[in-house]
Amino acid sequence: MSKSNISVGLLGWGTVGTGVSKILSGRSDFISQHAGVELRLAKIAKRTLPAFRDGVDIPDGCLTTDPSEVVDNPEIDIVVELIGGVTDSRNLIGKAIRNGKHVVTANKALLAEHGRELFRLADENRVSLNFEASTAGGIPIIKTLRESFAANRIQSLYGIINGTCNFILSQMHEGDVDFEVVLKEAQAKGYAEADPTLDIEGHDAAQKLLLLTALAYGLNAPSDHLHVEGITKITQQDIQYARELGYVIKLLAIGKLNSADRVEIRVHPTLLPTQSLLANVGGAFNAVCVIGDAVGPTLFYGQGAGEMPTASAVVADIIDAGKAISGERGARVSHAWQTDAKPDVSLCPIDDVETRYYVRLVVQDKPGVLAQISSVLGAHRISIASVIQKERYETDETASLVIVTHIATEKNMQFAMKEIDALNVVTGESQLIRIEEEVAF
Ligand code: HSE
Repeated sequence: MSKSNISVGLLGWGTVGTGVSKILSGRSDFISQHAGVELRLAKIAKRTLPAFRDGVDIPDGCLTTDPSEVVDNPEIDIVVELIGGVTDSRNLIGKAIRNGKHVVTANKALLAEHGRELFRLADENRVSLNFEASTAGGIPIIKTLRESFAANRIQSLYGIINGTCNFILSQMHEGDVDFEVVLKEAQAKGYAEADPTLDIEGHDAAQKLLLLTALAYGLNAPSDHLHVEGITKITQQDIQYARELGYVIKLLAIGKLNSADRVEIRVHPTLLPTQSLLANVGGAFNAVCVIGDAVGPTLFYGQGAGEMPTASAVVADIIDAGKAISGERGARVSHAWQTDAKPDVSLCPIDDVETRYYVRLVVQDKPGVLAQISSVLGAHRISIASVIQKERYETDETASLVIVTHIATEKNMQFAMKEIDALNVVTGESQLIRIEEEVAF
């Protein structure tokens, strides 16, 4: 089937929706010439209608408050879901797919939770469900994993995929400022949400990582099986000790196939070597490093959020769906999201992960303390690589002890930390941060 003048309907008209409507209304001739697809913005459904939106030329009758004018509209070929949340978006996307419409979404939370069901529904109805904008905004990492790297066994991927956390940690590295202060500044500048919990506790990155690992490994891991830690406990002291040891702290989303054919999927603050490219991704920027067995190491860098970068990804998906409709790539669209296939790898529980660790302890500054701590580590087969001890604090006669370990098993490390925390000589809250040395570049 070939069709020119493909009609697009938007569900939601917030920041990203505005960017999408700007491109569709202002650049349709350009898209037609360059991509060979004629797109027409036919409907926008928004719960409360704005009187005016700067820079967007919307045809009369385009705006509605009723989403069924988009999903049930026989004229509309492609539905773009940008309302977020899970319940309404799931129902509306389901309805659109059953009505034979191709769907584009930026909704990582929805796909992380209900992706399997929705991709199966799309397969059954022979329509595409494209989601490039769901992860790393303008960086084309979804298409890369599902198409460009299809010949590869993905060995590992490392993502800085939460701009809010990267902005906060970058600021903490640049100035002698604490987490809370930078968070407030990030909120004032609009880099962090009024309620930043999803971002700073690592859940936003975890939802994105689930999508990346579903594509890379065919694993549809339940979100509660992932190990997720945010950045709220990172202190200025940790930043400075890390620097002294030759590292930078980043919130890293990691998918890694280990030697037992098990996939580690984890999000946590991570010490990266200062000279690595990922360590130098600053501000609110995103980056994803993918290592494939054929292609080798690759790195993608760009803006992970914002009106136009995200709209760039959404419109690329719309164009792809348009090509599928007009027959260029066939009406049957493969999602490379294996809804039926049994993956040949399994999820590696966090307990079995092996890595190096940075441990910061607040201890009494007196003879024998280091010996007690190293004896606990030794008993759990954890070997110390280096130790830094800082002068005692004048006020309470405690000292900071920073230990870097050789590779150890998480389970052993957690047991050791429990025992260390129970020692009388350990007086403050301990810090444990994993180290990744082999981030390719
Ligand atoms: N809140 C996200 C971030 C952007 O800080 O990167 C949307 O995914």
